[in-house]
Amino acid sequence: MAKLLITGGAGFIGSHTCVVLLEAGYDLVVLDDFSNSSSRALDRVIALAGITPSESSAKRLVTVPGSINNSLVLEKVFREAIETGQPIEGVIHFAGLKAVGESVADPLRYWHVNVGGSISLINVMAAFSCHTLVFSSSATLYGYPDQVPIPETAPIQPINPYGHSKAAVERLLNDLAASAPGQWRIACLRYFNPVGAHASGRIGEDPLGIPNNLFPFVSQVAVGRRERLQIFGGDWSTPDGTCVRDYIHVMDLAEGHKAALDCLLTEAPQLLTLNLGSGRGISVLEVVNAFGQACGQPVPHTIVDRRPGDAAITVADPSEALRRLGWSTRRSLDDICRDGWAWQSANPAGYGQRG
Ligand code: UFG
Repeated sequence: MAKLLITGGAGFIGSHTCVVLLEAGYDLVVLDDFSNSSSRALDRVIALAGITPSESSAKRLVTVPGSINNSLVLEKVFREAIETGQPIEGVIHFAGLKAVGESVADPLRYWHVNVGGSISLINVMAAFSCHTLVFSSSATLYGYPDQVPIPETAPIQPINPYGHSKAAVERLLNDLAASAPGQWRIACLRYFNPVGAHASGRIGEDPLGIPNNLFPFVSQVAVGRRERLQIFGGDWSTPDGTCVRDYIHVMDLAEGHKAALDCLLTEAPQLLTLNLGSGRGISVLEVVNAFGQACGQPVPHTIVDRRPGDAAITVADPSEALRRLGWSTRRSLDDICRDGWAWQSANPAGYGQRG
């Protein structure tokens, strides 16, 4: 079975995708600098995928601590894979920074890691003739969308440095594919709002510091780590006045990555750009109420002023992913909350460590 490099494989989406890929038989090399992740996630990934010592977890999932900005480490990964007789056949590139506010405060760091790091990775891939890449893009590219549900053909109009960094890498990948027709196999996957956790509750989202995003904040209020959720705005032009998003269960997202990779490895070289979302709009209040049902008590909340930079409604048109990959989401909002609560209640302090 093919060997893959997973950058950022210890992170939230990366770790869940590793479980799906290991179960499908892929061998993995995970490169992660553990700046916002824990190696404990990878220990649990190995256990969840049912890899026994006799099967040698070291062979099925090799961990390499390091940054995508370090070309020497990247070269070593590709070289050693060749020496073991199993070259890297494809890369899933999750590694990157993802906090919108932080990107406004420190754009240089965002361009360095998200854009510079991607260039460093792609250079090494090209040097080792590895031309298959799945890239973590984001619905953030659409900015304030002109139409919902949002198709992939909608204008790219990011409104913050994080979004610009994702747009720049997508642009680069399009230029690269056009420069060598028939060579590159690339998928840019535009995630909507990834939430939930593995149904076992063993792996999940463990944000650093105070969560920026709704779902981990709600989970931490439910488990008693924070007192009360602030809902940013109750006067939006939406059915209940709170913002509407397309929340996607992280295991649906993980399966979307496997579907994209399988498609790239079997079809003729191509560049795919796909929304990964459910196509279903859910309001902030609906999330809060569903989570209250899942954890058995209401989640305390207060409606406060709007947060700058929010759009009223963002929902994916996911029909292209269904057409090209045969993939669509299978899990409901109740599944999301049940699994998110399984993780948070069993791990109130997350993994309890970085690195
Ligand atoms: N929200 C609250 N209270 C909170 C946190 C969030 O009410 O404490 C609301 C937001 O105002 C928004 C909704 O919950 O209406 C979702 O907010 P998130 O921060 O969870 O998600 P966003 O839709 O803002 O952000 C997502 C991704 C980002 C990406 C962005 C733009 O998490 O990485 O979409 O596409 F940049």
